[in-house]
Amino acid sequence: MLDVNAIDTYYGLSHILFGVTLSVRAGEVVGLLGRNGAGKSTTMKSIMGIVPPRKGTITFKGTGIAGRKPFMLFRQGIGYVPDDRRVFADLCVDDNLEIVHRRSSEWDKERVYGLFPSLKEIRSRRAGHLSGGEQQMLTIARALMGSPELLLLDEPTEGLAPLIVRDLEEQIVRLREAGISILLSEQNVRSALKMITRAYVIDNGRIRFEGTVQELEANEEVKRKYLMI
Ligand SMILES: Nc1ncnc2c1ncn2[C@@H]1O[C@H](COP(=O)(O)OP(=O)(O)OP(=O)(O)O)[C@@H](O)[C@H]1O
Ligand SMILES: [Mg+2]
Repeated sequence: MLDVNAIDTYYGLSHILFGVTLSVRAGEVVGLLGRNGAGKSTTMKSIMGIVPPRKGTITFKGTGIAGRKPFMLFRQGIGYVPDDRRVFADLCVDDNLEIVHRRSSEWDKERVYGLFPSLKEIRSRRAGHLSGGEQQMLTIARALMGSPELLLLDEPTEGLAPLIVRDLEEQIVRLREAGISILLSEQNVRSALKMITRAYVIDNGRIRFEGTVQELEANEEVKRKYLMI
């Protein structure tokens, strides 16, 4: 579904990603795990064309997408939930979803509310007044309105209270059950392991490990060196 092949990404003169290669196959929830500053968000921004890589290729369902703009990728079936939880603060929850609704979409508000019942209860509240966890649910819900085949989630549980984290973990597992492929970045490995089916570990802009959840759990060296657990 998604193939990132040997990309190099820079911010100005700073060389951040070095030959990053990863893939997400249909139905997988793939973890991109790593510490602060490892290059997780930069990898996602490279895929979304926000910081286009200077080398390497990115294909989605067999077509090159390097250099395409985020709204085009949204229409092609890639949903992106960045780490900053940007909602339309002045709009209510309902209108935040309505504004991105496409008639051709498989997902509509009611289906999204089925997955996030707690959002339905606050559907007329202004998004700017929501808690951090509620805003995170809303940004994921909004991405779903585009009927994504692939969802990029950048540290969705970061900074949220443990109870909310558990809710989100369950919802992400339900997305997986709905057949959506997901690339999920996380620092919190224990939390990620509840959701993912396969993992990459990134450190200093390089992929250091690739394997199944079981292989990662068994690899003490990778966990100690790159994940601090
Ligand atoms: N806009 C930018 N300009 C210059 N350097 C940047 C910029 N954004 C990130 N960096 C640097 O790129 C490196 C990778 O950052 P990135 O945000 O991809 O890490 P991350 O794995 O997402 O970390 P975190 O877990 O803290 O979100 C870091 O060294 C960071 O300082
Ligand atoms: Mg990040």
